[in-house]
Amino acid sequence: MNLLICGGAGYIGSHMVALLIEKGHQVSVIDNLSTGHQQALPTEVNFYQGDLRDEKFLNEVFANNQFEAVIDFAAFSLVGESVENPLKYFDNNVGSVIHLLKVMANHHVKKIVFSSTAATYGEVEGTNLITETTPTKPINPYGASKKMVEDILEWSDQAYGIKYTVLRYFNVAGAHPAGLIGEDHLCETHLIPLIIKAALGEREHIKIFGEDYPTPDGTCIRDYIHVMDLVNAHLLSLERLEKGGASAIYNLGNGAGFSVKEIVEAVEQVVGAEIPKVTEARRAGDPAILVASSAKATAELNWQPAYTEIQEIIQTAWKWHQSHPKGYSK
Ligand code: UFG
Repeated sequence: MNLLICGGAGYIGSHMVALLIEKGHQVSVIDNLSTGHQQALPTEVNFYQGDLRDEKFLNEVFANNQFEAVIDFAAFSLVGESVENPLKYFDNNVGSVIHLLKVMANHHVKKIVFSSTAATYGEVEGTNLITETTPTKPINPYGASKKMVEDILEWSDQAYGIKYTVLRYFNVAGAHPAGLIGEDHLCETHLIPLIIKAALGEREHIKIFGEDYPTPDGTCIRDYIHVMDLVNAHLLSLERLEKGGASAIYNLGNGAGFSVKEIVEAVEQVVGAEIPKVTEARRAGDPAILVASSAKATAELNWQPAYTEIQEIIQTAWKWHQSHPKGYSK
């Protein structure tokens, strides 16, 4: 297929691009490089540096290509930052999609796979796995911005016939098994890379944000999914839309929850060293538990995660960070 990947130079986008190139698709990327890395893109890609909110630029890119579908990863995604600066999140995460959908409608591109998040659910009551019908009540602006886009997509399907697949990611981790691309954030806030950085001596310790949550060890529980399993679900979603599939929403997770302390222990096992820990206050906007049921994706997309063990996920991240301790900037 001839595909446009928005935010393709970012952590998840670059893994998507790698998979699509491996499978022989024609790939163009738009990225403003605010958080992405051009070095993460293979040479086969048509790269356009620019911002999705620049409609003139976007129209030019669409006019010069015959895209069959779009995958949109271009967004800010840090829960804590979104609480401190919500307008940054609404402006970019919602604004960019409004312009993108307008240009897609103008150029008759009628398929989109959209990165959404478990943060749309907010604080979920009880201990059941979260399904796509669990009520969405975001407790941070990041989750709220993604929920708004989900609603915009639904209205755009009705009005313009743009078919969408919304994928609600749980906690994405790991790196391409070849070790050439991985997670490199200018300001890293995610748990697994931060623990690895502490193991590599780049940080003094790992901070544990809150030990007073209503969980067995008092720390937050999350569901970790390998980035290659995640991008594979995008490909399956595209194939489904290509066959005329209706718009749909899917959770993507492993269905197993790990507390912050359990993740620290798992990283310690993988790297073979103890990591210094410091307990801090809770971080604003963090729900206690987020664990997915991905039964719908399994049934309808025929999706099965290949990386089901947390150690395997961490192992690929460890390989990337060991070989790229300074990320893409050598
Ligand atoms: N945490 C720490 N110490 C740290 C960093 C994180 O204790 O130094 C804790 C957090 O408080 C949280 C857990 O580790 O309880 C996971 O935090 P991350 O920052 O790694 O990930 P989040 O759960 O906040 O968010 C991630 C993505 C979001 C997505 C969400 C879905 O960044 O985009 O997963 O669950 F919405």
